[in-house]
Amino acid sequence: MGVQPARATSASGTPEAGHGGHAGVPLRRVTPRDLKIGTAVAGGGHHLEQDYPDPFTYDKPYRRVLAREFDSASPENQMKWEFIHPERNRYNFGPADAIVRFARRHGQAVRGHTLLWHSQNPAWLAEGQFSKAELRTILRQHIFTVVGRYRGQIHQWDVANEIFNENGEYRQENIWIRELGPGIVADAFRWAHQADPRAQLFLNDYGVEWPGAKVDAYEALAKQLLADRVPLHGFASQAHLSMRYGAPDQLRAVLQRFDDLGLYTAITELDVRMDLPASGVPTAEQLTTQAQYYKTVLDACLAVDDCNSFTLWGFTDKYSWVPVFFPTEGAATVMWDDFAKKPAYSTLQQTLAAARHNGR
Ligand code: XIL
Repeated sequence: MGVQPARATSASGTPEAGHGGHAGVPLRRVTPRDLKIGTAVAGGGHHLEQDYPDPFTYDKPYRRVLAREFDSASPENQMKWEFIHPERNRYNFGPADAIVRFARRHGQAVRGHTLLWHSQNPAWLAEGQFSKAELRTILRQHIFTVVGRYRGQIHQWDVANEIFNENGEYRQENIWIRELGPGIVADAFRWAHQADPRAQLFLNDYGVEWPGAKVDAYEALAKQLLADRVPLHGFASQAHLSMRYGAPDQLRAVLQRFDDLGLYTAITELDVRMDLPASGVPTAEQLTTQAQYYKTVLDACLAVDDCNSFTLWGFTDKYSWVPVFFPTEGAATVMWDDFAKKPAYSTLQQTLAAARHNGR
């Protein structure tokens, strides 16, 4: 899909990570003990249209960095409906199982993503002609089957993903909400909790890095769910950022509103994309700005008591979804194609190390 931008590596003439006192120490070794540093695990989705095999199962250097740097893993696509439930009466657990096994072997938590979403649903579901009662049963069975399979092995589930529009109204593209009404969100949380009582259950969205109607809608929903004793445990900001829109300097305040409700908070899909120069290679100044954005998000999480999970949406530009979905933008992750570290990586590392040192 689309034209690939020039592939930048550390040999492209751009600066590499600086060398502080922790140079060479993996992120997971400097992260405060009450915080998990995570990444998406590349596979499925846009990768299927690229000229490389499945990154997670084929790319050994990629797997080594994944194991070394992170203590949480999020299947990028492998637990989404279209992958894990491709036909009505058939589940495809192989790819998700492989990630859960890998995570266990490397002492990593897993973030389950996702159970109730408008996007990446299989055709049999999206185009099926089901009664309301059938749809409800389909969702319930899916949640019990998928969450139940990984019972005890998932740290956090993104139960409901992107359920509000920017104006704070429920998304009518969401088949569950459209057909069954917004009350289905509470049911999804209840079913997920029954299937795995230990998993922390999250609301997750983008565009919640600044206050506004969307954040207000989530706050109102969270309050209502908690008042109704629905097992909601967390609120997450995806944090897909673009340098076009400025650094998310109000993110801390947003997260604090949910922390104040007694919820965990998390950053679940952080990347920071930029407009690439004609060369395809970011300037030193762009890389510095990018590092500042990453730090702003990390500082927000560190400043909020129960922000317990900080996940990057991939760690290398080699497999980033950004150039495929945002043509002309790219270079959004903390490592080049060859896994060499960008300034954003060292900034995260130094900020984490300082926080751990100071007992956050
Ligand atoms: C993206 C994946 O990175 C791509 O591989 C896929 O083609 C499309 O979805 N919000 C989410 C993620 O919750 O699941 C999306 O992931 C990015 C936006």
